[in-house]
Amino acid sequence: MTLRYAVFGHPVAHSLSPRIHRAFASQFQLDIDYQAIEVDGDFPDALQRFAEAGGVGANVTLPYKEAAYALSATTSDRARRAGAVNMLTRRADGWAGDNTDGAGLVRDLTERHRLDLRGRRVLLLGAGGAAHGVAPALLDAGIDSLVVVNRHTDRADRMVDQLSEPDRVSSRYWDDLETIGGFELVINATSAGREHRQFQLPFSLAKPRFDAVDLNYGEGAIAFLAWARAAHADHAIDGLGMLVEQAAECFEAWHGKRPDTEPVYQELCASSVTLRTGD
Ligand code: ATR
Repeated sequence: MTLRYAVFGHPVAHSLSPRIHRAFASQFQLDIDYQAIEVDGDFPDALQRFAEAGGVGANVTLPYKEAAYALSATTSDRARRAGAVNMLTRRADGWAGDNTDGAGLVRDLTERHRLDLRGRRVLLLGAGGAAHGVAPALLDAGIDSLVVVNRHTDRADRMVDQLSEPDRVSSRYWDDLETIGGFELVINATSAGREHRQFQLPFSLAKPRFDAVDLNYGEGAIAFLAWARAAHADHAIDGLGMLVEQAAECFEAWHGKRPDTEPVYQELCASSVTLRTGD
């Protein structure tokens, strides 16, 4: 029987997840059915109908990652630390929720781009779902410290409290960006680029050797990566690699096989200028 998988989101029509999972499946001659399911409203109901129709695994993207966390019967440790779920697996007692975003980012940075994250002073711009997903994995990767900056500081404060590592994690006001000093890694987890908004960042955020990562890709990453290049980043990396790697984590959990991500990543890079951003 063909196993049914899907990505849920809104909007989700341009999601690359079906393409990525089908490409992985073809590496093993696996017969899977992976669709994008647009949900404008009642996510729990949509998921219930998917389960009744034989759905066994789901990815969840904007804006339902917190909702997926809330309706998971069980959650992994990393999902609890993120407070968000991007992967659901059907079990006898309900949906098991996990979060592979952070692991995907760290694998992309450390294995594909060969970055050593240990000991770095890291700036995380944004405190929404994307930022929550990656922060725990960055801390586990051995960074020295994480400074979270968000326009609405209360969100950054809540995120810092949730991470429960006061020695390494702190928040600052957006207006502090001019005076906050330099970082060895600057990560854009805001949706500013996706909304086609420019945002000005001071070059003083860049230490003489620094890397910059945008969790967005395609058009959504253009503005931040332009800043990074102007600030002479050693690496200016978009979110495509993270997307492929988080999908590989899910694929392995569902099918017990580790796909080769590189050909899939290269194929997406070749078309990335025209990609819409999203999950
Ligand atoms: P996502 O799941 O992609 O993180 P989200 O939860 O809606 O989406 O969060 C969007 C993030 O981008 C938030 O941190 C938001 O900041 P606020 O919480 O202050 O709204 C940030 N963001 C959106 N537009 C921005 C802009 N023009 N400049 C800076 N930050 C922006």
